Amino acid sequence: MTSNAAKDPLVVHTVEFLGGMASAEGWRPDVALPVVAFSGRSNVGKSSLLNKLVRRKQLARVSQTPGKTREINFFNINGTFVLADLPGYGYARVSKEKREGWRPLIEGFLRQSQELRGVVQLIDVRHDPSPDDLLMLDFLADLGAPTVVALTKIDKVKVRELTPLIARIAQTTGLDTEQLIPFSAETGEGRDELAAALVELLEQPSWRAP
Ligand code: GTP
Ligand code: MG
Repeated sequence: MTSNAAKDPLVVHTVEFLGGMASAEGWRPDVALPVVAFSGRSNVGKSSLLNKLVRRKQLARVSQTPGKTREINFFNINGTFVLADLPGYGYARVSKEKREGWRPLIEGFLRQSQELRGVVQLIDVRHDPSPDDLLMLDFLADLGAPTVVALTKIDKVKVRELTPLIARIAQTTGLDTEQLIPFSAETGEGRDELAAALVELLEQPSWRAP
């Protein structure tokens, strides 16, 4: 084992795609493993972040056409836990009906999943959180789901712009800057911090009494 691997909070040995869930009543994976879900608006970088997190180039598909993933995709990691890639919400260039179609599926899943240990909410560091982002954070707070926020695409801003942007997002969301993990799928910055936060979510007992 190299010294690098020894320091890695999340060493991924195996990744298995379990399938997609297309409706709140539809198919879901039949595994009793802890689940962490990844949520955020379309194009925020969920699939890219997931790939970086598990160090696979093409685990989750990175889209050129935002808003395409309409299912919740499940990945079994190391046979010990499951990552759920939620469809991106808020993509403007689809019909209003489609645009609002995310709520029953995503909210239904988050409400019903007994194995859910927490959610990683993604917010693009360059933009103010959207009304849908704030709605989702409120929903997660009401649910009581442990939530970690990753600020994506930090490679796209200048280093000196980063601190004020983070402060602004902390203010808009009412979160402490300590709860925000700056991340770049391009450079890999924040990967180990996020991996450590993920492991922490997975190690907690469910906040949800069965
Ligand atoms: P949907 O599945 O459509 O909701 O999108 P998504 O949230 O999964 O985003 P995805 O990972 O597909 O990334 C969208 C676009 O942003 C792609 O062109 C990515 O290459 C780009 N991107 C994602 N993360 C980063 C990042 O950290 N830095 C940079 N520069 N580009 C990124
Ligand atoms: Mg995606």
